[in-house]
Amino acid sequence: MTIEEAMKERHTVRHFKDKSIPSDTTEKLNARIAQNNSDYGLRLELVTGNNDGLNVLAKLLGKGIKNYIILAGPDTPDLDVKLGYCGADMILYAQTLGLNTWWIGGMFSDKGARKSLDTDSVRINGVLAVGYGQTSGTAHKSKSAAEISSYNGDTPQWFSDGVEALLLAPTALNRQSFDVRGDGSRVCLTCSNGRFSGIDLGIGKYFFELGAGKENFEWI
Ligand SMILES: Cc1cc2nc3c(=O)[nH]c(=O)nc-3n(C[C@H](O)[C@H](O)[C@H](O)COP(=O)(O)O)c2cc1C
Repeated sequence: MTIEEAMKERHTVRHFKDKSIPSDTTEKLNARIAQNNSDYGLRLELVTGNNDGLNVLAKLLGKGIKNYIILAGPDTPDLDVKLGYCGADMILYAQTLGLNTWWIGGMFSDKGARKSLDTDSVRINGVLAVGYGQTSGTAHKSKSAAEISSYNGDTPQWFSDGVEALLLAPTALNRQSFDVRGDGSRVCLTCSNGRFSGIDLGIGKYFFELGAGKENFEWI
């Protein structure tokens, strides 16, 4: 499965099978994490064998969660956008490996997750539960392209494809509070979802790029 196919097949899954992730698969996840950490200066970390990074509510709502990726990095102003962007890469990459995921941005335990980090000098903003889902989830209720986008002039195909991909992105509380505007080859994406704005923006940028093709436009 390609990342593009994964984008269409991925849905939130909260109930997981009692099945461990084989070591060759965790190695692949760790390699992808290492690449993201090195490219974006982050400290993502895969934790296996416990659910300490979930808060009480997530432990009640979820089932069979034994693995998660901690979204962490040095506390710079653009940290949330980078965590959203790289987290999006991780959930889609996990999907290509036959795994399912649940983005937990509100119901995570900072204290619990921190036990698995060997540094205090980072900010954590969520965890991604990962494993074999009991189901593959269902498509979220979605806004329309017209509700979140506009293009100055005749809309090129790459812009429509980008918006279509953007609408597949997971967002906190499924808000999809995006506003994306195109003009020539320039695209401006903003997001207003309270404390999740930065992280949703990063996720949105990743999905839009995947749909539109990075070579077709530039962010402004
Ligand atoms: C930044 C972020 C934070 C989220 N936090 C939570 C959470 O704390 N609890 C929860 O049940 N779902 C959480 N979700 C999952 C969203 O509710 C879910 O992605 C959304 O409803 C869209 O569904 P989909 O992932 O199936 O496309 C979060 C998603 C994102 C992107």
